[in-house]
Amino acid sequence: MGMIEKDSKFYPDKTFVETSQINSLEMYRTMYERSVNEPESFWKEVAEELVWFKKPHTILKYNFDNRNGRIFHEWFRGGYTNMSYNCLDRHMGTENENKRALVWQGEPDEDTREFTYRELLTEVCRFSNVLKKKGLKKGDRVTLYMPMVWQLPVAMLACARLGLPHSIVFGGFSSEALMHRIQESESKLLITVDESIRGGKTFDLKSNADQALLKCPSVEHVIVVKRTGHVSSWKEGRDVWLDEEINSPDIGDFCECEHMEAEDTLFILYTSGSTGKPKGQVHTTGGYMTYVYLTQKLVFDLRKESFYWCMADIGWITGHSYIVYGPLLNGTTTFMYEGTPLYPAPDRAWELIERYKITICYTAPTAIRALSRQGESWPAKRDLSSLKLLGTVGEPINPEAWMWYYENVGRRSCPIVDTWWQTETGGIMISPLPGAAPTKPGSAQFPFFGIVPRVCDPGVEDFEKQGEKMKPGETGHLCIEKPWPGLSRTIYGDHARWEQTYFYQYPGMYFTGDGCYMDAEGYHFLQGRVDDVINISGHRISTAEVESALVLHKDVAEAAAAAKPDEIKGQSIYVFVTLKLGVEPTEALKKELIDHVRKEIGAIASPDTLQFAISLPKTRSGKIMRRILRKIAENKTDDLGDVSTLEDADVIRDLIQNRS
Ligand code: PRX
Repeated sequence: MGMIEKDSKFYPDKTFVETSQINSLEMYRTMYERSVNEPESFWKEVAEELVWFKKPHTILKYNFDNRNGRIFHEWFRGGYTNMSYNCLDRHMGTENENKRALVWQGEPDEDTREFTYRELLTEVCRFSNVLKKKGLKKGDRVTLYMPMVWQLPVAMLACARLGLPHSIVFGGFSSEALMHRIQESESKLLITVDESIRGGKTFDLKSNADQALLKCPSVEHVIVVKRTGHVSSWKEGRDVWLDEEINSPDIGDFCECEHMEAEDTLFILYTSGSTGKPKGQVHTTGGYMTYVYLTQKLVFDLRKESFYWCMADIGWITGHSYIVYGPLLNGTTTFMYEGTPLYPAPDRAWELIERYKITICYTAPTAIRALSRQGESWPAKRDLSSLKLLGTVGEPINPEAWMWYYENVGRRSCPIVDTWWQTETGGIMISPLPGAAPTKPGSAQFPFFGIVPRVCDPGVEDFEKQGEKMKPGETGHLCIEKPWPGLSRTIYGDHARWEQTYFYQYPGMYFTGDGCYMDAEGYHFLQGRVDDVINISGHRISTAEVESALVLHKDVAEAAAAAKPDEIKGQSIYVFVTLKLGVEPTEALKKELIDHVRKEIGAIASPDTLQFAISLPKTRSGKIMRRILRKIAENKTDDLGDVSTLEDADVIRDLIQNRS
């Protein structure tokens, strides 16, 4: 692989373009102009491709400017629909009815399951009937703490069918993290598994759940999916096996769906922000559905024969939108894999693509870097010729990883869609439409329909001039000027926090928290977070979360976390800890503190580096100077910038000398 020129462009193959839905830059531009100039008629038409029990009376109402009162946006008011209906029932009587909807491959090779759209509908209806029997009613929240088993999408669709907002907690989170999320959402029911299987190991999710439930009085019932058949604890009267419930003779094959108003909540998903505890992003039925439907269809340029694999975990937004809802809304076959792409051998991912003849593969830069490290010979041994399109998401992709993916997986004939978006945005925001224009490595390219990005100058003091645009090539803060149907409506139980987090920095606009520049041709290059969010392997953790976990430990006086660049994970966590007086800074304590964070949050939040410090650098007004800690974590200590406001300069000397 030679040097990648900064402006290298990669054109889609002629054969790809000929059959693609948006097949020229001109077509993209014409549609884009219309989508932003006439958003109401544009989105109304898209929504009408789906089924509504009652048509909306108002397409959009909003206020994004805090100077004009409460910030809100509402889409498709007065319209009634149902997500589960649109993913399943809508396909009955069409050619999709007997098409495969979901193909599941367990980590052990012999564990597989397939469902046609018809079969999936029946399975979802039966699951819905189980939930109904437990007495759940529209609006009741249900927490799902599950690994990548096929029952997870079934459970989601069952919740959606009955209007029960689901809150999925990634199976890698600890019992503490699960507890907070259940308490916050006041879920009535928890769905979990006995054990999860990953990388050849089993993890006892049920006992994590039991631990969490000790402090979650709202939960009345627990439905347990059988994966390994092994449970270490059980509470009679509260816990039931899904198998037993769903096979009970009184559980029927059909269940009517609830008619949901467009703005009724579809789900809550917790994600880390720059401060405090994770925020429950609230996504609604009509807007989210419409947005995910269209982005899935056009960004992945779906064809009838598409066999689509998104490698994310359903516990994150990528899995919600683009493993479950997006593909099923479009009548596509979605592939779901239980394990990791590196187990039992480094070519597991390539082997699955070969075996199943996957046509679209969507993964994260982290996975690409980890896979590329195994060497080119692994993908080279496999027949990957079924692939037509590749995608990436979750963090900035370095051009080297992009090229590796392009050459070794796509064999230089598959376009790559680098899709930028967030839990809050519901769906893809900036991404190539693969048949429309050439791609550039490291660029998420142009905005999707209806999205108006603006790279704002962060240095503007004058309030009236806030939001001034940066020149091409200059990095600024990425904001979005206008509403779109997929954006979250609020933070569960805390609307003021939603307003403050996203709308107060640049009045009138949604602030993304990301740095970005645009080149002279309008290509967007995302530069990572500009706030205190750390992106580890495409997963968000806030410095505040890690710090609060650390200070819960009896020996810790103060803690600060920063991001450290990492070759595979993108970033890792570097923490600075000051101990209480008289406590010895030992290696054993270091390990104990790292384990403590893992227990409080989960393995993904484990600090890679922990440095004991005599004190943390503070301004005279007592604020921790994070900028300096970041530089130390990045090992850029000869460029600390202005330290004149620092209270005690010796602190820095100590920090640099003892850098881990
Ligand atoms: O910093 C951006 C980064 O991931 C953040 C959103 O994380 P989360 O809500 O967990 O959603 C991840 C999956 C959508 C963003 O603020 N990010 C996501 N995609 C990209 C990206 N950074 C650069 N390029 C991307 N394609």
